[in-house]
Amino acid sequence: MSIKVKKLSSISPLGQLGKFKENPLAFLDELKETDSDIAQFRIANRKVHLVMNPDFIKDILETRAAGYRQSSKFDELKPLLGEGLITSEDPKHKEQRKKMAPLFTKEHMKSYRLKMIGTSEQFYSQQREGEWNLSDVMMELSLACLSRTILGMDLAETKEKIGAPLYQILEVGTKRIQSLLKAPLSFKVGEIKAYASAIDELNKTVDEVILVRNEKNYSPYDFLKMLLEACEGNRLQARNEIMTMLLSGHETTANWITWCLYAICQNEDVKQNLYREVDHVAGRNKLTPAMLERLTYSKKVLNESLRLYPPQWMLGRTAVNDLTYGGYTIQKGDIALLSPYVMHRHPKFYPDPLKFKPERFQEGIPKDVPDFAFFPFGGGARGCIGNHFAFQEALIILSMFIQKFDIQLVDENRIVPEPFITLRVKDGLRGEVWKR
Ligand code: HEM
Repeated sequence: MSIKVKKLSSISPLGQLGKFKENPLAFLDELKETDSDIAQFRIANRKVHLVMNPDFIKDILETRAAGYRQSSKFDELKPLLGEGLITSEDPKHKEQRKKMAPLFTKEHMKSYRLKMIGTSEQFYSQQREGEWNLSDVMMELSLACLSRTILGMDLAETKEKIGAPLYQILEVGTKRIQSLLKAPLSFKVGEIKAYASAIDELNKTVDEVILVRNEKNYSPYDFLKMLLEACEGNRLQARNEIMTMLLSGHETTANWITWCLYAICQNEDVKQNLYREVDHVAGRNKLTPAMLERLTYSKKVLNESLRLYPPQWMLGRTAVNDLTYGGYTIQKGDIALLSPYVMHRHPKFYPDPLKFKPERFQEGIPKDVPDFAFFPFGGGARGCIGNHFAFQEALIILSMFIQKFDIQLVDENRIVPEPFITLRVKDGLRGEVWKR
C-alpha cells in the first residue's frame, strides 16, 4: 500500500513548536488541506506524526494499541488523580477498567437520569434572566449533575466543596501542562502551594463522602456503592477514580453543550426545529426519562455539535516500539497525534464539512463515514468510559434549557475556539437569556 506523507521541515531547534503553540487549530487545518495520510513534523527533538487515515487511527487506538502508551499530559495531574483510569497503565488499567465498566452500561444510565433531571431542574429554577456566561453556567451545571450522580452531593455542597478547589486545581494544572519551563511540584511555594492545598481540600471532601456512604445501605444502583464494590473496598482507589471522573467528565460535557448552543444560535432553522421538537415532546411538563427517548432531533444536534466542536480535540500517544504503516514507520519514542477536530472536518469524509447539519446523523453515525473518521470519545481499550453518561447528561441539560429559556448570543462575531485541554470558547460564550 502506498501512503501519502507530508513532511514539514524547519531549521529552528524548536521545530514547529512556535507555529503549533501560536494557533494549533490553524496549524492542523493547514496540514489537513494537504490531503495526506500522515503529516510529519518536529517539536523540539521529538518527531510527531499527525495521523489522518482512519484505518491507521483504528490501528493506534484499537488493533495495535499495546504498541503505544498514553500521552504524558495528565502526569501533571497525577497528584490529584493518583493511579485512576486515565493515568494508569496496563496491567493495572486493564483490570480496573474491567471492574468499572459495569457502572457505565446503558442499563445503569437509566438509574442515574432522574438525579440528572432533578439537579438540572433545581439549577435552572435558580437562574435569573439576563446576560449569562454560558460557558461558566454549563460548567457549574455539568459538575453539579456529575457530583450528584457519583457522590450524592447537592448543588450548594458541590459548588462550595467540589467546584471551588477543583477550579483552582484545573487553573494551575492546565497552565503547567501547557508550559515547558516549570518549577517541580515538590517546590511548594506560591502557585504550587495553593495547588497542593486545593488537592488536599478536595481529597478530604471526597474521603469524607466515601466514609459516610460506606457505612450506609443504598439502592443497588447507587454509583458510589457500586464504585466501592468495584474497587474491592479500597477507598484510595475509589477516591482516585472519583477524581478522574470529576476531571474528565465535567469540562468536556460543559463545553459540548456550550458549543451546541453556539451552533444552534448560528443556524436559525436548526434552532427552530429543536424548539419545535422539545415543545412537542415535553411541552411545559416536567421532563421524564420516556420523553428523553423521543428527542431524536435533539440527539442529532448533539452529535453534529460533537462533530464540529469535539471537546477532546486531540489525543496523543507515544510509540513504545517501531510501528509500520504501508512502508512508513512511526519509530519508538515518536508521538502520534490523532485529532477528532481534524478528522471531523475533513472534506474526504463529510461533504460541506463546515456546515452544521444535524441531518447527517439520520440513523446514528452516517454509513459512508469510516470508523474513526468520527471518534469524539476516542476508541479501543482507552476509549471514553463515560460516553453514555455524557450523552444522557448533555441531552437533559440541553433539552431542559430549550424548554425553559430562549437565547440570543452577545457579540457572536468575536467567538473563537480555544484549544486548551478541551476545546473551549475563548473568554466564554455570552448570551442574553430569558424565560419562555
Ligand atoms: C462530551 C463529553 C466527553 C468527551 C468528549 C469525552 C472524551 C473522551 C476521550 C476522547 C477519551 C479518550 C482519551 C484518549 O484516548 O486519550 C476519554 C477517556 C475517558 N473519559 Fe471521557 N469524555 C467525555 C465525558 C466523560 C464523562 C462524563 C466521564 C465520566 C463520568 C468520562 C470519563 C472518562 C474516563 C475515565 C476516561 C479514561 C478511560 C480509560 O483510559 O480507560 N468522560 N474521554
